[in-house]
Amino acid sequence: MKTILVIGKSGQLAKELSDLGSEKINIICLGRKEIDILSIDSIIDSINKYSPMAVINASAFTQVDLAEEKVQDAYNLNAIAVGNLADACQQTGIHLTHISTDFVFDGEKSKPYVTSDKVNPIGVYGTSKAEGESLLAAKHDNFCIIRTSWVYSVYGNNFVKTILRLIRERNELNIVADQIGTPTSAKYLANACLYASVNNVKGTHHWTDLGIASWYDFAVAIQELAYENKIINRIIPIHPIDAKDYPTPAKRPHYSVLDKRSLKTTFNEVKNRHWRANLEAVIKELKKGEAKSE
Ligand SMILES: NC(=O)c1ccc[n+]([C@@H]2O[C@H](COP(=O)([O-])OP(=O)(O)OC[C@H]3O[C@@H](n4cnc5c(N)ncnc54)[C@H](OP(=O)(O)O)[C@@H]3O)[C@@H](O)[C@H]2O)c1
Repeated sequence: MKTILVIGKSGQLAKELSDLGSEKINIICLGRKEIDILSIDSIIDSINKYSPMAVINASAFTQVDLAEEKVQDAYNLNAIAVGNLADACQQTGIHLTHISTDFVFDGEKSKPYVTSDKVNPIGVYGTSKAEGESLLAAKHDNFCIIRTSWVYSVYGNNFVKTILRLIRERNELNIVADQIGTPTSAKYLANACLYASVNNVKGTHHWTDLGIASWYDFAVAIQELAYENKIINRIIPIHPIDAKDYPTPAKRPHYSVLDKRSLKTTFNEVKNRHWRANLEAVIKELKKGEAKSE
């Protein structure tokens, strides 16, 4: 039986990875109580304890606005810890899959970012993630970086759950329509990460759902699908607004669509679909969860 060690336990991606455990693959998820990724010794202890064939890093400081304030915390987790994981995996001869973000780019392009495009982050989160990518590449020679974007799942906190809550609480919503990217189901992302890990995929790749959207398009689709699936019982007006009219502590790229050619080449054996189909699947899962807890 193959063992894969996942760093992170309670996050969206870590939980989806945990669900992929089977008779053939043992997925062990370690949270901050079980492993200190700021210590190379702690990481090596875990590798010695579980003898995994590979490690997947699903942990990160993901709160983009809070990162502007907690700069050191973001840097510790998104950069220093990634360097430590790279060091430990290099010393033990183990493949490391690491997840990065569309926010390593500045958003000034108007066509999808390819993996070889120069990174130029515009906020602390993106800068710390870009630094993590560099440290990993400098310290390890058997790694895979998967950049992704706008991740959501039935697990954790994310845009889908926030919109559903706001539809219940408010009578109308204003949602940014001039930031364009691609929503990504953590379930399908988890499949890609596991594929990379088991198949020793190397280099930097992009993985998102298919298609593109603005946050406004995404919110409208969430409302439509949630209403159709009876998660909400009313439709409220959702208005498109400009990002300049919704100031946030962190600047965000205006356009961060990731080029999807890795999906056809490296990940051609891994299923993916248009973001709206994946969103509908998550909405149905949320509905099932509600029914179970009733
Ligand atoms: N979410 C997005 O929209 C998005 C977009 C692009 C890329 N990504 C990347 O995708 C990956 C997965 O994101 P996600 O959405 O699944 O993140 P998430 O739900 O915010 O989960 C982050 C995970 O990191 C863990 N963590 C935080 N500090 C830790 C520490 N010191 N030691 C061990 N674990 C720690 C968290 O554990 P606790 O719950 O205990 O804090 C949590 O399990 C990340 O690399 C992220 O940068 C995400």
